Amino acid sequence: MNIKSLFISNKIKHLALVVLAFFSFTYNLHAQDGDVATGEALFNGNCASCHFPDKDMTGPALKGAKDRWIENSSEENFYKWVINSGSVIAEGDAYANKLFKDWNNTPMPAQNVDESGINDIFAYIEAYEPPLPVDQVVDNGGGAVEAETSSLYWWLLAGLLIIVIAVVAGVKGNLAALARDKEGEEQPEQLTVGESARSWAWRNRGWFGVTVFAAMILMLSLGMVKWLDLGVYEDYKPEQPIAYSHEIHAGDLGIDCKYCHNAVTKSKHATIPSVNVCMNCHKTVNEGRDADGTAEIAKIYEAAGWDIDTKSYTGETKPIQWVKVHNLPDHVYFNHSQHVVAGGVDCKQCHGNMKKEDVARVMTTEDLNNVGVTDEDWAENDVKFTKPTLTMGWCIECHRQSSVDLAGAPDGSYYNEIHERLLKDKKTYKEYLEDDVVTVGELGGLECAKCHY
Ligand code: HEC
Ligand code: HEC
Ligand code: HEC
Ligand code: HEC
Ligand code: HEC
Ligand code: HEC
Repeated sequence: MNIKSLFISNKIKHLALVVLAFFSFTYNLHAQDGDVATGEALFNGNCASCHFPDKDMTGPALKGAKDRWIENSSEENFYKWVINSGSVIAEGDAYANKLFKDWNNTPMPAQNVDESGINDIFAYIEAYEPPLPVDQVVDNGGGAVEAETSSLYWWLLAGLLIIVIAVVAGVKGNLAALARDKEGEEQPEQLTVGESARSWAWRNRGWFGVTVFAAMILMLSLGMVKWLDLGVYEDYKPEQPIAYSHEIHAGDLGIDCKYCHNAVTKSKHATIPSVNVCMNCHKTVNEGRDADGTAEIAKIYEAAGWDIDTKSYTGETKPIQWVKVHNLPDHVYFNHSQHVVAGGVDCKQCHGNMKKEDVARVMTTEDLNNVGVTDEDWAENDVKFTKPTLTMGWCIECHRQSSVDLAGAPDGSYYNEIHERLLKDKKTYKEYLEDDVVTVGELGGLECAKCHY
């Protein structure tokens, strides 16, 4: 073999190494030594009061902690730290002392675990993935993040596939060259990598074309799904961890929406009630309408750590992972209190008649338009929709139609201020009040920056 083909085959080796490295890397991610199930139990029993796997709490997020120790101190000290963090600090280890300082000199108490227990715990931590719509909904009223990882994974896979094809083809070429060498045949003219790739593609144009075509179709369809996702919300009704019923609670029992969604008048988010809110009643109400209902209420007890026999909390809580139903993309700003308080918009206008629903769903345009007709305590809603719920067109449509009562706004209110300002500028005022209504749109509710970060 001549130098050049050696060089090329070296390149191929490098490529193969990269591919191998990638696979062993992903393999490592999943195959930590240690047992995930044991680790989960140990983590919940010993560490969960101060640590989340993936978020800071009293102590830092633990994902990647072992690597941080190996990088900044040593693996030995990592185990020592967990068992007795004070000893590593006392020894003057720089990383340990920095951690201690960064976390406000709060010592992490010594832990009753051994090395294999720690391996189990970190096997669990590294394998941990936040449940899709985390109970963040409970903590901060939303912002649950959809994992984008799966599409990334497909892209990586597609990339890998291309590399593998290239490597295989390269190896094939090299073998052929080797065979020719052996038989003393003359080697064909040496080509650069680009040229040989091109000529290879041409020689194999049949299945090369098919592969490229298939890859393009795959990518396009993935892209399409993502794109279509943008608008497909209507009637979305995910299965929830507890078969909670709005009809029973908000309808029959007449509980006010704001009793449970209590941030709705004060903040951007309406928030999903925490399990404590349910326990206000369910400490005593332990039976539903039928056996199913009773079993569902038992799930509340499991989440709250309530022992129905001793009537006391066991301290072992397990958050209810409600699945987020309404989900605007991150680039959109939507504020509940602005609509409910300042705008005086009824929940029904956007969420339909929840008193007739079990768990929530995204209402269809038809549901929203019929709310006024089918519900006795809802006179006539003034906005008729044509665009699918939660799309941009839907917001805009309502902003075009909804009017704001400027002249009647109470003294000192936001609209009163606008009214005063408009009055000073008679010309604009007249322009706006020509039809005697000021719509949200006319007030600026159609400006991109109002809704987009
Ligand atoms: C009472 C609270 C508490 C408990 C319980 C606790 N930790 Fe910690 N942990 C901390 C604090 C606080 C820190 C930050 C360092 C400091 O202030 O000393 C920390 C730091 C750590 C670090 C270093 C993180 C890094 O980024 O390098 C590891 C590893 C760790 N803890 C593991 C555990 C494990 C495993 C358990 C359970 C067996 C556990 N901790 C239980 C409070 C706690
Ligand atoms: C102008 C339309 C509109 C009105 C009025 C409205 N909502 Fe919403 N609601 C939305 C939108 C849009 C979302 C999705 C927000 C997001 O994904 O950031 C949402 C989300 C929610 C959520 C999920 C948690 C959250 O905050 O994201 C709850 C619960 C909720 N609304 C309850 C209510 C209640 C209760 C009322 C009445 C007091 C109400 N909404 C009034 C449009 C509205
Ligand atoms: C203000 C009191 C109150 C609150 C707060 C409350 N519930 Fe209830 N819930 C009740 C009552 C009363 C019943 C029994 C209704 C019946 O049997 O007709 C019930 C029944 C249920 C049932 C059984 C339904 C069935 O089909 O039989 C479930 C499940 C339930 N609640 C879940 C929840 C959840 C989850 C929360 C918190 C988000 C919650 N409840 C908050 C009063 C409440
Ligand atoms: C049912 C009718 C309705 C729907 C649907 C609606 N809005 Fe509104 N919106 C209003 C009203 C009424 C106001 C005026 C309230 C205020 O600002 O005081 C308003 C005001 C706003 C404002 C403030 C505008 C300004 O000039 O300051 C923003 C931002 C906004 N809405 C965003 C949205 C987004 C984003 C959506 C869609 C996800 C949406 N709205 C859907 C009725 C609606
Ligand atoms: C007893 C507590 C309670 C009351 C009262 C209540 N809800 Fe809910 N609501 C919940 C719970 C729990 C969920 C989460 C499960 C689900 O999605 O149905 C929820 C979910 C929702 C959602 C969907 C949130 C999301 O993920 O996008 C909307 C919208 C909503 N409620 C509106 C209302 C309206 C409007 C009322 C008043 C008519 C109301 N709720 C009354 C407990 C309550
Ligand atoms: C009243 C609120 C509102 C206003 C004003 C608004 N947008 Fe949007 N926009 C949205 C919402 C909500 C979405 C998300 C729609 C979805 O997920 O389907 C969106 C989505 C988008 C998207 C993503 C593509 C799509 O169709 O989902 C683009 C691009 C965009 N807006 C541009 C603009 C531009 C440019 C303006 C100004 C001319 C503007 N928006 C004004 C609410 C608004």
